[in-house]
Amino acid sequence: MLELKNITKRFGDKTIINNLNLTVKDGEILSIVGPSGAGKTTLLRCITGLEKVNGGQFFIDGQPFEPYTNRTNESVIGVVFQGFELFPNLTVMENITLAPTLVLKKSAAEAKQDATTLLTRLALADHADQYPYELSGGQKQRVAIARALAMKPNILCYDEPTSALDPNLRQEVEKLILGLKADGMTQIVVTHDLTFAENIADEMFHVEPNKSK
Ligand SMILES: Nc1ncnc2c1ncn2[C@@H]1O[C@H](COP(=O)(O)OP(=O)(O)OP(=O)(O)O)[C@@H](O)[C@H]1O
Ligand SMILES: [Mg+2]
Repeated sequence: MLELKNITKRFGDKTIINNLNLTVKDGEILSIVGPSGAGKTTLLRCITGLEKVNGGQFFIDGQPFEPYTNRTNESVIGVVFQGFELFPNLTVMENITLAPTLVLKKSAAEAKQDATTLLTRLALADHADQYPYELSGGQKQRVAIARALAMKPNILCYDEPTSALDPNLRQEVEKLILGLKADGMTQIVVTHDLTFAENIADEMFHVEPNKSK
């Protein structure tokens, strides 16, 4: 279980997140919804340790957890960015094996074997040697998901997973996320798409723009 207690995040004198409390139960999907500029991406960046919060605490299974300073963070909380952010100069296989070899110190052979299993699962087995520019948007997204899963996170977060995709791919993303849930993965999905959010969510969290921002 992930708990956020009284999380506050400011940029300069603007308070983007004000004393936010939030709980994500193991194996559940939390959808975070709210209008543009409300602070959804900022909240996700704080949870994944890309931004330092100005106040509040994080707990995992009741233990204090500091995402910003936790060096092996990726193996606790993984993230799939809105633009996918694949390394353009690396193949699909290299994109997926880089962090497991560098951070988790896996051997090249083991990392490759694990990546092959993930690629097969995500219907990407034929794309291992391609570069990101050779892939469709949906394929790039699945590579980004495979890359995050390769770090064996306890929690996987997505920022607007449907926004860069053709609307008819939305169902594919839903299926994928629900498939990971069936495997027990805890997931946080930031989206402005209410229907999509409702289709997948166990819990919904509404982020409101802070009036004093
Ligand atoms: N690095 C930054 N420095 C200063 N202000 C920032 C920074 N990042 C975000 N903000 C501000 O924080 C607010 C929330 O931005 P954020 O990107 O979290 O919104 P969002 O809810 O994800 O919006 P969208 O739905 O458009 O993606 C905005 O007013 C934005 O200008
Ligand atoms: Mg955003």
